[in-house]
Amino acid sequence: MKVSVKVPATSANIGPGFDCLGMALPIYNIVTIDETVLPGTGVEINILSDEEEVDNLIIDHIPRDETSVVYKAVEMLYNSIGQTPSELKINIQTSIPVTRGLGSSAAVIVGALIAANKLLGDPADESALLSIATEVEGHPDNVTPAIVGGLVMSSLENDGSIIYRKLDWPEDWAITVCIPDVELATEISRSVIPKEVSIEDAVFNLKRMGMFVEAVNSCDSELMKVALTDKLHQPYREKLVPGLKELCEAFKHEEDVLGCVLSGAGSSMLIISKYSAVDKVKSVTEEIMENLNVRADIRTLKVEQNGAEILSE
Ligand code: HSE
Repeated sequence: MKVSVKVPATSANIGPGFDCLGMALPIYNIVTIDETVLPGTGVEINILSDEEEVDNLIIDHIPRDETSVVYKAVEMLYNSIGQTPSELKINIQTSIPVTRGLGSSAAVIVGALIAANKLLGDPADESALLSIATEVEGHPDNVTPAIVGGLVMSSLENDGSIIYRKLDWPEDWAITVCIPDVELATEISRSVIPKEVSIEDAVFNLKRMGMFVEAVNSCDSELMKVALTDKLHQPYREKLVPGLKELCEAFKHEEDVLGCVLSGAGSSMLIISKYSAVDKVKSVTEEIMENLNVRADIRTLKVEQNGAEILSE
């Protein structure tokens, strides 16, 4: 039996929601698990890419041995039902750029889990899949929208369970993603964040998180302009992300632009605006990145409402 699963990219944090807000975006990885490898060959992981040759960066970040997050996720699922994975061929077709804060690792973890779950006859329900995926990834803000789609706030609870709720992203708000040609590994980007923060900074984010939810629910652009700020992670990561400071500054007072935020741990950035401002957003972003001498792929995307989807069994 062979199962393929298509999983969307995700952008986490979205300003104030460090480790809890995330949304699915329409760029996809496809993970296929085939049970028909010859006996004795164990688990084989292959990476296939849109590029003619799979570059070393992808291979470095999605290892193909038992240290791989893909292997760990599948192993945890099998172990949860008292089995060990063997004789599986896992093919990963990647389109989501790696080390750019777009949830490429969440996508492969989720794809492998859902495919393996199907092969095993669906022993894990959504909540079990969310818990395993979060344990492997470390935080729920990418894996939850990768599984359920849309804009989601999620919380990892002490018992390992995930509480999540979907929010409706206003139709009128465009998301322009600037993907710089700059690698930024999540571990490095997390290492610059202090372990403790001041009460003032914690309260700053609490207020913005409340505003974010209300702004999205009532489609309140003025409130969203205040909400899309952060004091828990972005100020520390600014030095690692070329363009973040410049883009946030440039769009602060631009009409119909709601804000600029780091996507996940970076290096991509999101500029949230009304659709009427998209051309302006793209040209200003292009100019800023050119002045910094950093190549960047700039795309306007809609929130992907669907999460991971089984393509074939
Ligand atoms: N919330 C995580 C972080 C997302 O910002 O480190 C990493 O993809």
